[in-house]
Amino acid sequence: MSELTFENSSVFVAGGSSGINLGIARAFAERGARVFLISRDPERVAAAVAGLRESGGEARGCAADVRDPAALDAAYRQATDWFGEIDVLISGAAGNFLASALDMSCNAFKTVVDIDLLGTFNVLRCGHAWLRKPGAAVLNISAPQAFNPTRNQVHACAAKAGVDMITKVLAMEWGDQGIRVNSLVPGPIGDTEGIRRLAPNEQALERMRATVPLRRLGALADVANMAMTLCSPGAGFVTGAVLTVDGGSSLQGGRDLKPE
Ligand code: COA
Ligand code: NAP
Repeated sequence: MSELTFENSSVFVAGGSSGINLGIARAFAERGARVFLISRDPERVAAAVAGLRESGGEARGCAADVRDPAALDAAYRQATDWFGEIDVLISGAAGNFLASALDMSCNAFKTVVDIDLLGTFNVLRCGHAWLRKPGAAVLNISAPQAFNPTRNQVHACAAKAGVDMITKVLAMEWGDQGIRVNSLVPGPIGDTEGIRRLAPNEQALERMRATVPLRRLGALADVANMAMTLCSPGAGFVTGAVLTVDGGSSLQGGRDLKPE
């Protein structure tokens, strides 16, 4: 992966203040890109931006909720005033918790769908005006729940299935403008908020690890390396793809995830 360079590239990361998305942002920044991050909490954004700068990256960011198109418009204006048209747009904001359908209110279901599914539409719809045409790469961060029915995950399953459909439909609609749109599907990635919520103790973590054919949890770099590859010119003929980076774990089908 060391040969990839993103000098003079501009990268916008929605949901970029922590975890997998921050790992992706860091990988692009380390390879020369200018990176703009958004998430809801201004302090988390500021800390993430400071961390990227401390390691020599060029980074800025602001607070914006993906459920709020006006806030997204303002963030895109701020980002593009700084770095011009967007070469790479990562949409990865998400919320999740373990609960059965009968243990979640209608509002709880709606909250996750609003962030993951409607938020992804908002990020792409509002971002389109600022994408480089031709040449931009859009990457939605999906999840195995999109295609593996999983107990206690009806909200995430429904939302991420919709995210992958957004990927495929917009790959068709935007292809003639030279914009590629793909989904990246991380499996269980160690030391992330997502995994802390889905496998909240060592026993659950061990069960999860055992379902991975490669017998380990993923690392942030595993996802970031695939994100950079998919957004690089070498993947210039790849669009509408839903690519797993999961050690083979989704080959086993859905899991019985339980709140413990
Ligand atoms: N079980 C059942 N319902 C839950 C729940 C749980 N563990 N956690 C939250 N809810 C419900 C709330 O009770 C509320 O429903 P109500 O109004 O009927 O009471 C609804 O979800 C919305 O909660 P709220 O805290 O107001 O939403 P928010 O927009 O502030 O936060 C969440 C969104 C709930 C997804 C929050 O967990 C979050 O911010 N997550 C981001 C981090 C994350 O999830 N990372 C992993 C990504 S994979
Ligand atoms: P995380 O650290 O909690 O990342 C979620 C990010 O989204 C945070 O930066 C959060 O910051 C931001 N966010 C949440 N709601 C938002 C909103 N309404 N508007 C804007 N930003 C918002 O979790 P993660 O585990 O790294 O997950 C990152 C992505 O990977 C998600 O799309 C998730 O579905 C996917 N994924 C994770 C795993 C895993 O093993 N962890 C597996 C499969 C898929 P704020 O709180 O500041 O808003």
